[in-house]
Amino acid sequence: MLNNPTPVIAIDGPTASGKGTVAQQVARVLGFHYLDSGALYRLTALSALKKHMSLADEHGLAKLAAELPCRFEGEHVFLAHEDVSLSIRAEEIGNAASRIASLPAVRQALYGLQLRFRDAPGLVADGRDMGTVVFPHAPLKVFLTASVDARAQRRHKQLIDKGFSANMEDLRNALSERDARDANRPIAPLKPAEDAHLLDTSEMTAEQAVEQVLGWFAAVRKAH
Ligand code: CDP
Repeated sequence: MLNNPTPVIAIDGPTASGKGTVAQQVARVLGFHYLDSGALYRLTALSALKKHMSLADEHGLAKLAAELPCRFEGEHVFLAHEDVSLSIRAEEIGNAASRIASLPAVRQALYGLQLRFRDAPGLVADGRDMGTVVFPHAPLKVFLTASVDARAQRRHKQLIDKGFSANMEDLRNALSERDARDANRPIAPLKPAEDAHLLDTSEMTAEQAVEQVLGWFAAVRKAH
């Protein structure tokens, strides 16, 4: 598994494609650490909005990202001493995260932080550029997709379950807009790594997707 013996499973894909659910379950089954890289962009966005900063202030946002006082404890995420596990999931924060994620200095500031999550016995990392930029030598890369309709339905259910209000039509529009922004930005755009396994989960349950990823990983382990 190349230079670093600690294996990484990189799971990338567009918004609401099920990456988070699949990545967390794969990590649980294997006893691996889990990196929700989107949470770092969401934390930076939340912190910026709390400080009334402009989402175009690249230098200021990069400084904020570099000094982000965040902590992950199980399923809980803290910003300084505040449990923000729920507030970072608001769609407004996801959209703000997508805007600041197009700023190169912000991405650079979060890069080193993401590398530090790689620890024995292994890491499952989910995001947009895990397989292309952050862990380009990951022994297994997966790119999850799903139709816009399937993703809008999943996000709708997720938001309602968390107590947020949500409207299907608005969600579809916001998803498409976020896809376009994430895929067209010049730095670390959303795209599958050349050696990624593509998995369309539109018609799959999360359990089936998890089984598929575990199957690919077992094959990778056997080959090394
Ligand atoms: O949950 P959802 O898939 O909607 O978003 P997320 O994974 O929490 O990420 C929020 C935003 O951060 C995305 O729309 C991306 O623009 C950005 N992001 C990124 O640029 N690179 C990553 N590795 C992860 C997230």
